Amino acid sequence: MDIDDKICVITGGASGIGLGLAKALIGRGGHVVLADINVTRAHDAAADLGPRASAAALDVRYLESFETLADHVFATFGRVDVMINNAGVSGGRGVLDTPEEEIDWVIDVNLKGVWRGTSVFGKRMRDQTTPSIICNVASENALGFINQGLGIYAGSKHGVLGMCDVLRHELPPHMRVCVACPGLVNSDLTRSSAQTAPNPRISDKYLAVADRMFALGMAPEEAGEMIAKGIEREDFIIPVHPHVVNIAATRWQEIADSFATHAPMQVDSDKYDVMKLLSRLALEDG
Ligand SMILES: NC(=O)c1ccc[n+]([C@@H]2O[C@H](COP(=O)([O-])OP(=O)(O)OC[C@H]3O[C@@H](n4cnc5c(N)ncnc54)[C@H](O)[C@@H]3O)[C@@H](O)[C@H]2O)c1
Repeated sequence: MDIDDKICVITGGASGIGLGLAKALIGRGGHVVLADINVTRAHDAAADLGPRASAAALDVRYLESFETLADHVFATFGRVDVMINNAGVSGGRGVLDTPEEEIDWVIDVNLKGVWRGTSVFGKRMRDQTTPSIICNVASENALGFINQGLGIYAGSKHGVLGMCDVLRHELPPHMRVCVACPGLVNSDLTRSSAQTAPNPRISDKYLAVADRMFALGMAPEEAGEMIAKGIEREDFIIPVHPHVVNIAATRWQEIADSFATHAPMQVDSDKYDVMKLLSRLALEDG
C-alpha cells in the first residue's frame, strides 16, 4: 500500500510505538488519527505533528467507544485505509501468582481490545471495497519465550497472532491484516498501563527498574519506521528486532523435534488434515 493521502487510525497513538508509527505514516504523506485513553496527551501529540494529525478519545475496553470513534472518523474522512490496533498494557507477575482480575484486564485490553478495533473498523472497511489494511501490534512475546513475569502478557499477544492468522483467510481480497511483533522499545508502557490496572500497586522500585530497562530499548521512531515499511509491503508478520528470529527458531525447533519423536510423517498422515477433509466433504455435497 502506498501510504500517500491514506487515512490511518492508531489506537494508543499518543505515545511510544503508536506515536513513532504516526510520524512514519505522516512522513509518507498519510493522515493520522491518534485515538487514546489519554486524550490530553493525544491532543498535544497531534498538535506537535501538524495538520495531517488529529486526536480522538478512545477506550479500547468498550465496543461503544470504538463505534463512536468510527462514526467520527468516517464522518470526517469518508473512509479508513489503515487501522492500527496498537493500544496495550503490560502486567508483570508470575503465572501462578497473577490474580484473576489482572488476567481479565490484560486480556480485555490486549486481545479483546484488538478484536474490538478489528471488528468495528474491519466491518466498515469490508463494505468500503477499496484496498485497506488492519495492522495489529502484538509483540516478540507472540513468537516465543522472552522473560519470566510475562506469561499472561505473552498469552494475550499469542492470542492476537492466532486470531489474525485465521482472520487473513476470512477477509475479502481488498483487505489485508498485518501483525507487528516488536521487541524492546523505549516507551511509557509500564506507567501508561497504570492508567487502567485493577491493582495499581506498582512500587517505585519496580518503576525505576522498568524505566532503566525501557530506556535501553529501540527508539519508537525506528520501530515506527520498520512497522510502516511492513504495512507498505502488506506482510502478515512484521518483525522489528533481528535477534527475535532466534527466539522463534527455538520454538520451531522444539515443535519439530517433538513431532519427529512422537508423530513422524507417514504415507497416510494427511487423512486427518482438516482443510483436505473439508474440501472432500464439499466435493461430496456437490
Ligand atoms: N515497548 C515495548 O517494549 C513493546 C514491545 C512489544 C510490544 N509492545 C506493544 O506495543 C503497543 C504500544 O505500547 P508502547 O510500548 O508504545 O507503550 P505506550 O505506553 O508508550 O503506549 C501505549 C498507549 O496506549 C494507550 N492506552 C492504554 N490503554 C488504553 C485503552 N484502554 N484505550 C485506549 N488507549 C489506551 C496509552 O495511553 C498509551 O498512549 C502495546 O500493545 C504493547 O504491548 C511494546
